Amino acid sequence: MAPHPQDVAYDASINDPSKFWAHQAAQLAWHTPPTTAFRKTTRQLKSGTSHASWTWFPEGEISTSYNCIDRHVEAGHGDKTAIIWDSPVSGSKQKISYAELQEEVATLAGVLREEGVQKGDTVLVYMPMIPAALIGILATIRLGAIHAVVFGGFSAASLAQRIEASHAKVILTASCGIEGAKGPLAYQPMVRGAVEQCPHKPTRVIIWQREQKRWDGVQEGSGERDWQGSIKSARERGLTAENVPVKSNDGLYIIYTSGTTGLPKGVLREAGGHAVGLNFSVRYMFGIRGPGDVLFTASDIGWVVGHSYILYAPLLAGATTVLFEGKPVGTPDADTFWRILEEYKVNGLFTAPTALRAIRKEDPQNKLFEARGRRGGLKHLRALFLAGERSEPSIVSMYQDLLNKHCAPNATVIDNWWSSESGSPMTGLALLPATGENFDDHTWHAPLAIKPGSAGKAAPGFDVRIVDDDGVEVKERNTMGNIVLGLPLAPTGLTTLWNDEERFFKGYLKRFDGKWMDTGDAGMIDEDGYVSVMSRSDDIINVAAHRLSTGAIEQAISSHPAITEAAVVPIPDHMKGHVPFAFLAIADPPADLLKDLNAKIRHDIGPIASLGGFIAAPGIIPKTRSGKTLRRTLREILENGVAGNFDQEASYPSTIEDASVVDKAQAAVKQYFTTGDGKNIKAKL
Ligand code: COA
Repeated sequence: MAPHPQDVAYDASINDPSKFWAHQAAQLAWHTPPTTAFRKTTRQLKSGTSHASWTWFPEGEISTSYNCIDRHVEAGHGDKTAIIWDSPVSGSKQKISYAELQEEVATLAGVLREEGVQKGDTVLVYMPMIPAALIGILATIRLGAIHAVVFGGFSAASLAQRIEASHAKVILTASCGIEGAKGPLAYQPMVRGAVEQCPHKPTRVIIWQREQKRWDGVQEGSGERDWQGSIKSARERGLTAENVPVKSNDGLYIIYTSGTTGLPKGVLREAGGHAVGLNFSVRYMFGIRGPGDVLFTASDIGWVVGHSYILYAPLLAGATTVLFEGKPVGTPDADTFWRILEEYKVNGLFTAPTALRAIRKEDPQNKLFEARGRRGGLKHLRALFLAGERSEPSIVSMYQDLLNKHCAPNATVIDNWWSSESGSPMTGLALLPATGENFDDHTWHAPLAIKPGSAGKAAPGFDVRIVDDDGVEVKERNTMGNIVLGLPLAPTGLTTLWNDEERFFKGYLKRFDGKWMDTGDAGMIDEDGYVSVMSRSDDIINVAAHRLSTGAIEQAISSHPAITEAAVVPIPDHMKGHVPFAFLAIADPPADLLKDLNAKIRHDIGPIASLGGFIAAPGIIPKTRSGKTLRRTLREILENGVAGNFDQEASYPSTIEDASVVDKAQAAVKQYFTTGDGKNIKAKL
């Protein structure tokens, strides 16, 4: 049987990356074309050693904003819709054409330049899901500056940490976010609070005023500026700024992601590789071909999914993106996503399994989806993409049946696996797998068959392998191990951390001697090459498709006077996949401890990191002889407890300091679930 086109393209991308990606690079407009697609390099560490690295499209110069906007206007697509904003929480809808977007972005870029932003500066974006957020990001890169978007749900302390780390010159923000059905949430205390506690002071804070809650008294003297006022003045003066190209391996943006320690890691995305890789993936993996196609990515611009598939990828393709300000349920109901699919004739929906679990809870019979489907409202949908956490087979199969009944021919549920580090899917099923000499014949082929529970096959450019703890490849199929990547990564992948090569090397390359990049995920590959991602192999918790650091949560709670020692691990949750849970080595927890710990977490990190519960008893935190907390053992004991298997033995390494601690932890877990606070916790669906 002839190989499937995805397998052919994959082999070509791994066997000859230069040829494969040079052709993809030629699809974009370059200020200076690269001399070659790919070059091996070496990076020096402060410690004096060095490690092998790589660079994509060396010597090339590119403007991503030109490629996202001006290129399409010049090609005669100025009247096509670039952005559809749909905001049930504010009762607003808006369509912005490519020509309008060009004018908006060029004007704001003029304002930013006047406020001192230059090529290479950092602009921090702390914004809700409104068009100004996308315009702000695009205006930043129009000047060749670097953006760092911080999720609007992070607290002032987390924001301060990111202002300091990025050394932001300017902050773009808004007067409020609107959180689900809860109404407006003022950003002013967060932003002012963050700037106050941060040693590095941005020179400007530019504020988009929303009528739902205005910023109370913009203080011009202290560098605060009214966004709409500045735009009005710029328009009156005809102030705009042109695109400033940057080198291919200059930074386009920094995205902060949870590390195993409390400090977030600043993943640096490089301009050239990002544009080429995303322009390829949006067509190839997502089947969004160009003007007229509509992609609805229900994420937040604070996350990498939002960066790539709300903003950059659909605009690079010249397609339409839906920017949604709301929640899958409660704004106003579980029909919101399906209404949007029908109203805007959406071709691709990208969301997280958590959102579908929330919808299933409200509408277990899928009556709302069926009703729109029966009247033909969902027939434009070609795929439902899922990412951010493992998709359980029941969700995938249920939606595949619905897609078969009501959506476009061959419509498929496609689970894909990726991260802030990869920038685009490392595995998935290509919706539009190209064929031909240069893989640019985009006629529709049926995608590879889905296997519910698996995140598909490796995507072109990502050499996905399973290795044991010594870095030896596990060739036997269906065997669990560490998921690693061969080098180089595909062009969207990171090559370093912002100003921290040392941490990049230690965090990703050192564990396997620079041969493989560690993804921190564990899983297996089956006999057909399908990858299943089962869990994290490090100390990160995946909550509602967001990555949170156990170390950061432990740090937040250990300042409480009652806490002497804490270990945070994930507990399965029927809605969010997992939520954080604490083991506290104390005898008599004070009343209201959970409330107090969550108040501390909300203050230090944000509400998304709140604890689902805790178990307190002396001597229940197992450690190695060198003092490392055995979170994996605690996690296993807790998972056994959730499943009611109280007497199942937990595994621990031979380096454990005192094995009797494991028995104590097991007894405390049993007590918690049988007679304690956990007796009503239900196992994950
Ligand atoms: N600004 C301020 N606060 C925010 C926020 C934001 N942007 N996002 C979340 N929060 C707050 C919530 O209001 C909530 O606060 P509360 O504890 O005071 O009620 C808390 O953070 C937890 O939020 P969340 O995890 O979103 O839970 P929820 O119960 O409000 O909603 C779901 C549950 C399932 C609807 C929601 O988690 C969801 O939509 N998940 C999908 C996630 C997703 O799409 N991720 C994509 C990544 S690819």
